[in-house]
Amino acid sequence: MEFDTVILGAGAAGLMCAAHAGGRALVIDHARNPGEKIRISGGGRCNFTNLYAAPENFLSQNPHFCKSALARYTQWDFIELVGRHGIAWHEKTLGQLFCDGKATQIVAMLRDEMDKAGAALWLSTALADVRRTESGFSLTLDREGDRKTVDCRNLVLATGGKSIPKMGATGLAYDIARQFGLGVTETRPALVPFTFSDGRFAPLAGVSLPVGLSNARASFDEALLFTHRGLSGPAVLQLSSYWREGEEIAVNLIPGMTLLEALRAQRQQAGRRALTTELGRHLPSRLVEYLVPELGLSGNLADQSDAALEALCARLSDWRLTPSGTEGYRTAEVTLGGIDTDGLSSRTMEAKEVPGLFAIGEAVDVTGWLGGYNFQWAWASGYAAGTAI
Ligand code: FDA
Repeated sequence: MEFDTVILGAGAAGLMCAAHAGGRALVIDHARNPGEKIRISGGGRCNFTNLYAAPENFLSQNPHFCKSALARYTQWDFIELVGRHGIAWHEKTLGQLFCDGKATQIVAMLRDEMDKAGAALWLSTALADVRRTESGFSLTLDREGDRKTVDCRNLVLATGGKSIPKMGATGLAYDIARQFGLGVTETRPALVPFTFSDGRFAPLAGVSLPVGLSNARASFDEALLFTHRGLSGPAVLQLSSYWREGEEIAVNLIPGMTLLEALRAQRQQAGRRALTTELGRHLPSRLVEYLVPELGLSGNLADQSDAALEALCARLSDWRLTPSGTEGYRTAEVTLGGIDTDGLSSRTMEAKEVPGLFAIGEAVDVTGWLGGYNFQWAWASGYAAGTAI
């Protein structure tokens, strides 16, 4: 059987690519349904792009690589597509756009676009073997127990990263990239909660507050959530992409607060109020209770010297912690790293040394922040390859 193009992976990038690839295109996926990560994304509402998506929101060994594709298929292009399909959406926060209805609307939209382009979709199909031929590639596929050989001129790697293996994530794209001489950078779970092996935050599980979270490389002002096993919430997921084992993180528990002034004023007006009671007016009271031994909180406001209040605020704005690790690929939203962009054209996503071989989406060493950026990369890189084919 012959196709012009075979796209491995019917996820966000693969479906987008199929919608734009000309000629006879075939998308294969080992899953029973296409776009499973889209379906579960954004709590079932899919944070499908971000109003502020820009190259600065992506990590890669080559931070310039994503620029061309992101410029040629922007968030506005995707918003226009969503609008054309009558899908209602809203901005939640920080430019993050979500469906008003269900994430499955986005999957249906992509399927529709792919059907209009005339691409075929084989689900429950695994790749048994791939090799180079004179005119392209020859694939041996296992389609629900049936062995099939498919020849194609173009082969697109769109099988994503390693996050959430339970959902069928595999390292297939990396294996094929290596087979054809492309490099693969170090891969790590990213957008992932931190763990603390001593379970120290279990008493705070469920407490959430806005923080400033930083390390030497990055800083995010978003919410932090204490969990039984450690720390989660948007600020933590964001910083996890910039964190390495053994490193310390700094939590500002009072970002944008003028706590020192407030404590001084209350010392005048309500000197007999317990320090912990006053702190509980600014921070979650369970957190204040938790911090009593660590920060030696005791006495009334009137008992606190200026120096003591200054020292307290300094500690609250720079609480140092060293996570033991992360929750790993089991819960990571994305994989950091991937197919080395050195070997790919930034305009077309085609391998420079292997004509006809393309890599798109999360499989490539381009990783977005939390907030719709990873889908925007999937759409943009899928479009770049699709229109180049
Ligand atoms: P994707 O993972 O979408 O697709 C890969 C496809 O390849 C899958 O269909 C898979 O079955 C198939 N495949 C894998 N191995 C195969 C093999 N060996 N043989 C055949 N097929 C194979 N991003 C965002 O921007 N906004 C959001 O709201 C969210 N939310 C979110 C929630 C959760 C829980 C997760 C895990 C992730 C997100 N993300 C996200 C990230 C986003 O889902 C992700 O970056 C994109 O889906 C990547 O698109 P790809 O097409 O590259 O891979």
